[in-house]
Amino acid sequence: MPKFNTEVTVIDQITISNHVNDLGIENIRKEIIEGLVSDQKYISSKYFYDSKGSKLFEKITQLPEYYPTRTEKGILEQIAHDLMHDLNYTDIVELGSGDCSKISILLNALQKENLANINYIPVDISYSAIQNSAEQLIERFPDLTINGIVADFIHQIDLIPADNQRMFCFLGSTLGNFNDEVAREFILTLSENMNEGDTFLLGLDLVKPAQTLHDAYNDAQGITAKFNKNILHVVNELIESEIDSEKFEHQAFFNEDKSRIEMHLKAKEDVRINSPHLDQEILLNKGETIHTENSYKFTPDQISELEKTSGLKINQLFTDENSWFTLILFEK
Ligand code: SAH
Ligand code: AVI
Repeated sequence: MPKFNTEVTVIDQITISNHVNDLGIENIRKEIIEGLVSDQKYISSKYFYDSKGSKLFEKITQLPEYYPTRTEKGILEQIAHDLMHDLNYTDIVELGSGDCSKISILLNALQKENLANINYIPVDISYSAIQNSAEQLIERFPDLTINGIVADFIHQIDLIPADNQRMFCFLGSTLGNFNDEVAREFILTLSENMNEGDTFLLGLDLVKPAQTLHDAYNDAQGITAKFNKNILHVVNELIESEIDSEKFEHQAFFNEDKSRIEMHLKAKEDVRINSPHLDQEILLNKGETIHTENSYKFTPDQISELEKTSGLKINQLFTDENSWFTLILFEK
């Protein structure tokens, strides 16, 4: 995001088809403006991920305070062999794929001869994330076929090919960035889309001490703050505004009642927003916030609930020694 020319790029075994265009720039602008004129202003967290945002997120995953990535990778290392050993002629679909480091752990567990039968389908709204990860993966796994789809997985899930048996992966607790209703709807749509025998590996971050959560979103180097502020650059490009991100400060806290980290951008002074796509100027008062992200932290009860509402069956559930993160293998 944003890259508005529909295109298909083919390089050896890599194909990338870009469907962001089909979302329509008018719909995107409408969604952003709706958030900015609300009483509690908000911007959807999917707008974090232009090429700079994707790079900043990758930096976040390497921070000492950001425990989710290394915890989930630790679990993946443990289970990769059992998960992958009889996988053959399968499409591996990764939703919100980001960089390729997690899928590499799974691919690494495959036999070389099986790799040639695998079609890896990363689905992400960030063109650069798919392009960079595909190039790195082909270097590491030259027998792999990659068919990347640049799209919004909430609205465009039907773009994913359904000809072969599929293993869906949705890692990093990205599901936790959606509110309850959207998350339930998304899982239900995915479940309806899955065929008998397809599997779904879902990574979810679990509730843990509030200080650990707080630190993960308030890192000492200020990378999360940069990531948060970058959303304003993406918005500026999309609605042709000139919001100065330096007039905002990063705010992230654990909302215990709602079991979620909330990220906001708090105005350090009065801020005026103008755009040719606005009926009238928007005024943010000093101290007012734009809500940019929720990151829900899950409990075992919520996971059982998810199984009930999804129409999927939990086949296996994995966690780390501290029960900080979980990987759930669902089957249809
Ligand atoms: N799975 C990776 C990346 C997580 S970051 C990991 O665990 O490290 C979240 C990713 O989801 C980003 O790459 C972002 O571009 C993508 N994303 C967020 N909202 C999306 C949406 N609505 N449709 C498609 N991709 C989305
Ligand atoms: C992608 N997503 C699961 C991350 C999270 O932890 O909610 C995004 C993020 N926001 C701030 N730091 C990381």
